[in-house]
Amino acid sequence: MEEMHIKTRCFDLTAMDETRRQTICEAAGAVIRQGGTVVFPTETVYGLGANALNPEAVRSIYRAKGRPSDNPLIIHVADFDLTGIVREVPPQAQMLMKKYWPGPLTLILKKAPGVPDETTGSLDTVGVRMPDQPAALALIRASGTVVAAPSANISGRPSPTTYERCIQDLAGRVDVILGMDPSRVGLESTILDLSGEVPELLRPGAVTLEDLRSDLGEVRYAPSASLKEDEAPRAPGMKYRHYAPNARVTLFQGDPEPVRRHMLDRRQPDTLLIFIDANGSKEPADDPSGTVRFGSVEEAARRIFETLRLADDGGARQIWIQAVAETGLGLSLMNRLKKAAAYEIVEVKE
Ligand code: TXA
Ligand code: MG
Repeated sequence: MEEMHIKTRCFDLTAMDETRRQTICEAAGAVIRQGGTVVFPTETVYGLGANALNPEAVRSIYRAKGRPSDNPLIIHVADFDLTGIVREVPPQAQMLMKKYWPGPLTLILKKAPGVPDETTGSLDTVGVRMPDQPAALALIRASGTVVAAPSANISGRPSPTTYERCIQDLAGRVDVILGMDPSRVGLESTILDLSGEVPELLRPGAVTLEDLRSDLGEVRYAPSASLKEDEAPRAPGMKYRHYAPNARVTLFQGDPEPVRRHMLDRRQPDTLLIFIDANGSKEPADDPSGTVRFGSVEEAARRIFETLRLADDGGARQIWIQAVAETGLGLSLMNRLKKAAAYEIVEVKE
């Protein structure tokens, strides 16, 4: 990865009063307007933003992340008027924007002529979302433009959900880093493609497949097809790994009790166990050390990326994770976990 020596200004907005926060967001907005890069909090994960309509600014996002520049970015907006970004807003999109924005839903629509190829990866469509985070909205408004932003991690690491992880990954590589509390959702936004005949879910998130099907009727979702397209090995040894920590991740599927017993019985000293109480059941708190327990799928979603990074920090060589049912938010969580595990899944029979 290219070495960079940018002087990064970091601001934790959490403890500031409203006036001070607004002043910082105004200044950061000016940095975006002038072609700079700003890391900012959203309700899903932190984003690495730049002016989406300025090709040179967008290129600096890729440079900071150390990732190839053929990947399309999501445009973050603070206004429902998408003139200049998309060619049209079909009725289905209008309905979903009204219902879920601001919120964790990205819509893929036909792009307007002015959006640079750098932002869309030369596609004729563009992803748009309005984040549900006051500081993000203040930043976008202050920028006077719209903000292209991938997750604020160095390419290959789990998406950052805290200010500290953004600093760890990107200090020296961006102009400004803004911090707020840990991200509330913890998984990247749902991506729904509305540019074709039938709506297609490209990435499940906190707006669930079930939500979208009840809103729209038919919604296509082909996890294996999308896997072939965008997760195909790009280099030897990179097979399917995407949200990958350094430790080797394995998922364990089956009835909760046999799965837990199996994991506890076979673990090695360097194995971190992650249990997920999918229905929020109150288990006795007698977990041995080296285990993490999430009390619900929501909590697991919120904390999973940070937990994977903590496991790496602690030198864990293996991470074993209890699988959850692939419904609702569970589908989105499992989508990330399967990628982190490079599809290594153990079926536990009684
Ligand atoms: O929650 C989120 O969406 C976060 C925060 C920062 O908003 N952003 C995020 O961006 O996850 P990123 O770049 O890590 O993921 C964007 C995904 C990529 O998988 C990309 O392929 C897809 O969106 N995407 C963007 N534009 C697209 C398009 N026109 N057609 C198909 N997929 C698109
Ligand atoms: Mg990402």
